[in-house]
Amino acid sequence: MIELGSLKLNSRYSLAPLAGYTNLAFRLSVRALGGLGLATTDLVNARALLQTSRKTMELIQTCPEDRPVAVQIYGTHPGEMRDAAQWLENYGVSAVDINMGCPVNKVVRGGGGSAMMCDTVNTVALVRTVVESVRIPVTVKMRLGWDDDTLSAPYFARAFEQVGVAGITIHGRTRAQGFGGRVNLDGIRAAVEAVDRIPILGNGDVRTVADAEHMRRATGCAGIAIGRGALLNPWFFAQLAHREATGEERPPATYRERLEFMDRHFHLLVAHRGEHFACLTFRKVANWYCRVLRPGHAIQQRLMMIDSVAEFERIVEEISDLLNRRMECDWPDADLSIRVPSGPVERW
Ligand SMILES: Cc1cc2nc3c(=O)[nH]c(=O)nc-3n(C[C@H](O)[C@H](O)[C@H](O)COP(=O)(O)O)c2cc1C
Repeated sequence: MIELGSLKLNSRYSLAPLAGYTNLAFRLSVRALGGLGLATTDLVNARALLQTSRKTMELIQTCPEDRPVAVQIYGTHPGEMRDAAQWLENYGVSAVDINMGCPVNKVVRGGGGSAMMCDTVNTVALVRTVVESVRIPVTVKMRLGWDDDTLSAPYFARAFEQVGVAGITIHGRTRAQGFGGRVNLDGIRAAVEAVDRIPILGNGDVRTVADAEHMRRATGCAGIAIGRGALLNPWFFAQLAHREATGEERPPATYRERLEFMDRHFHLLVAHRGEHFACLTFRKVANWYCRVLRPGHAIQQRLMMIDSVAEFERIVEEISDLLNRRMECDWPDADLSIRVPSGPVERW
């Protein structure tokens, strides 16, 4: 359906990387629901990857069922980026994605992430070096530009296509915007129009099937990368696939299905990384499960402090009892807002 060079994707909808969230356990849980094209790991630093630092190896953890998968790298040194891409090709991933969108200070201070959009010459040369060093597809994820005065995405999209990049994801905001304001669909369209053949995946604020259809109509993008929408609704990819195949809306997941998903996600975290790590990671996501499941303040507090598998199982049982007692239609509405880094973008 979408071709990234030699890599054929079954769905035009990809899981966008969300550092700290889109780990192996989450990716496998979402894949099991169907409809997902490509998934991407958290961003990892090219140098740390070459040093095979323990933390980086954990971030790129994958398995044969976790395919197709891209590992996202960042860095400014062409030699390191080249070696990291070759290392990943040998490791067996489906594609390498270069991060040019991250707005966080730690990354842009060294010239990486979205700061790469300020340096046309060196950035294109770096990307060319990476593309020429591996046989697997190389993709780029970027923003519209640094700020409204430098909307460089169309320039880079064209230049990247010419040096052999297989596909580009564009988050329709500038770095200066952070996660605020609205996604600029005209900005994504300008990048779509700048390339001849490679797929552009639009990205940003797509939460519903209608949002996805609007994004495709307004921008002409070949596919869509979905981040936060998939955290709140892991069935999103299956719903989009169903809509494309039948023209009909698939009913939303039931609360019991959501509870089962949470249970599977937690147990996969335990299986991959052990009880301690699973509990620490789960604390971070407990909040957004509770926004949808609404189990009440006391259970929410316990989930956010989870420290053992036994406690998790007790909580699942309690929520299950709640579900038995409450009718689906009586359930309070889910809170679908999602927290993003806050405060002025300079301080992230
Ligand atoms: C908590 C968080 C972590 C993110 N981590 C990454 C990352 O590692 N690499 C990347 O390219 N983008 C990252 N992003 C940006 C998302 O991939 C995506 O571009 C952005 O959230 C807009 O899409 P959405 O509205 O579908 O979430 C992150 C965003 C959030 C909120």
